[in-house]
Amino acid sequence: MMAKPLVVTPGFDVWPGFLDASAQDTLVQAVFAAAREAPFNHYATAYGKPMSVAMTALGAVGWTSDAGGYRYLDRHPGTGRPWPSMPQALLDLWRALGDPETPPDSCLVNLYRDGARMGLHQDRDEADPRFPVLSISLGDTAVFRIGGANRKDPTRSLKLVSGDICRLSGPARLSFHGVDRILPGSSRLIPGGGRINLTLRRAR
Ligand code: SIN
Ligand code: FE2
Repeated sequence: MMAKPLVVTPGFDVWPGFLDASAQDTLVQAVFAAAREAPFNHYATAYGKPMSVAMTALGAVGWTSDAGGYRYLDRHPGTGRPWPSMPQALLDLWRALGDPETPPDSCLVNLYRDGARMGLHQDRDEADPRFPVLSISLGDTAVFRIGGANRKDPTRSLKLVSGDICRLSGPARLSFHGVDRILPGSSRLIPGGGRINLTLRRAR
């Protein structure tokens, strides 16, 4: 039986400690192996400033950003090669907690080293918001913030710890969210320190 999630706000569900230590370790190793093929990049925002979070992706398409805007591409913009494939463990997680029928076509990998954060934003570059976004936290604890569908809606913050999984779906799918800060040294999982967040999506 799958443990019931904590419902933080309707449509925003959290499964604390869903992944055990060995599952976390396996994912981190898979991510760093993939990053040798598809290197992490500090994309520029639409405002031209490089993001503090370094990103890469797995799957058929990967999220990218440059002065031309935000979009999903089927090639890594630096190497011109396809993105590495998604490990089976991620496909299985999506089937269990994301969507039982339609597989994800993208896993965005966010690497937060010292001082990295992510401003409040909506995930709205995906073709069909009926599919959820499933988020996996690895490494240092994040102070995560979530509000409503309007930027000015009240927000609340919660800590996401290594192994936690959360899901934005239904009424929370387009909620503004971001990462205020990372608590440095709160985990020893990530070589070189920091946090990795994986988000599984159906982008196209
Ligand atoms: C994101 O919104 O893409 C990242 C969220 C997180 O790092 O927890
Ligand atoms: Fe997001």
